[in-house]
Amino acid sequence: MTWEKMLRPHLAALEPYQPIVPVEVLAQESGNTVDGVIKLDGNENPYGPSLRVARAMADYPFFHIYPDPDQRQLRQALEGYVGLGAEHIVAGAGSDELIDLLLRLFLEPRDQVINLTPTFGMYPFSTHICGGEVVEVPRDDDFQIDLAAVRRKLRPRVKIVFVASPNNPSGNLATQEQVLGLLDMGLLVVVDEAYYEFAGETVVHLVKEHPNLVVLRTFSKWAGLAGLRVGYAVCHPGLVKHIMRIKPPYNLNVAAQVAAVESLKDLECLQARVLDIVAERERLYRLLQGLDSLHPYTSRANFILCSLQGWDAREAYMRLRQQGIFLRYFSNPRVSHCLRISVGKPEQSDATLTALSHAEKEMAVRPK
Ligand SMILES: Cc1ncc(COP(=O)(O)O)c(C=O)c1O
Repeated sequence: MTWEKMLRPHLAALEPYQPIVPVEVLAQESGNTVDGVIKLDGNENPYGPSLRVARAMADYPFFHIYPDPDQRQLRQALEGYVGLGAEHIVAGAGSDELIDLLLRLFLEPRDQVINLTPTFGMYPFSTHICGGEVVEVPRDDDFQIDLAAVRRKLRPRVKIVFVASPNNPSGNLATQEQVLGLLDMGLLVVVDEAYYEFAGETVVHLVKEHPNLVVLRTFSKWAGLAGLRVGYAVCHPGLVKHIMRIKPPYNLNVAAQVAAVESLKDLECLQARVLDIVAERERLYRLLQGLDSLHPYTSRANFILCSLQGWDAREAYMRLRQQGIFLRYFSNPRVSHCLRISVGKPEQSDATLTALSHAEKEMAVRPK
């Protein structure tokens, strides 16, 4: 076919991103009802959005009018929450879109991006789409960033480093010293704080002093808006202007803007739910510690990575899937012996624990 020969070769050969699928599809695949599915694979918020969101959507009169290309309402509403002026803020269709826009803005073909593996899969995926190359710098055994190893990889073509903090899938934070160390290397340092609200620690206060720092945030996790796609970047006003110039003009749709603004008006309720999720994370961690051949890593996010010792993580994943319990399995060899469990409601944790402990009894090889 002619169009196949016309495809850009690096995109024709692109390794696809492995996305998660919606709950209705999982229900159908596992022969369950939607209510019967336990979906703990996407780090979504089990409590959903603020009730104010549905009410505001129902009352919103301008769905037939294009959104504001300057995103004025949301950027202003975020000023108090972020602690910086609107000129430091730009929103996107999820932080995924901002990852892509930053790469488009900074990468020439074959430029390099440092990926601190194991980490969030969108960084290498979007780098490849933009024609860039990924330089992997593995984290240490505790998933900490190895600054010396990053330094050894520095070349003129290395432009960006992405730092998920807390990191997905390991759940640990980057320290401020590590972020400062990366900033000193002169790269664009993108600190992805998708799980900031569950950790309570941020480097946003460094933005004013460091024009090469971008902090990414999202409404997907703490505010329960994953389906509406709204994230934002906090960075130097000059960089905001460049992102504004290249983004699709109406990238933040009106429903997303209304929902995000309403969420910021209902902080007390949403933050109370975040606290519930954090308490449930700690309870789930203790329950997982009770299994002999499973090791949970401490987490500051809304998920827990567990390493399975003496039993096959993929088989365990498939087995729970058949029971309608969906966890995240990774083929990346560094974590292919692990499962990542999103923190859901207490009853979902309990059902997962029961299923894991049955699986462990039947699958794990116990040391003699
Ligand atoms: C580290 C990290 N960054 C970004 C995202 C995506 O966020 P958004 O829904 O805003 O695109 C995720 C989602 O899982 C994530 O884990």
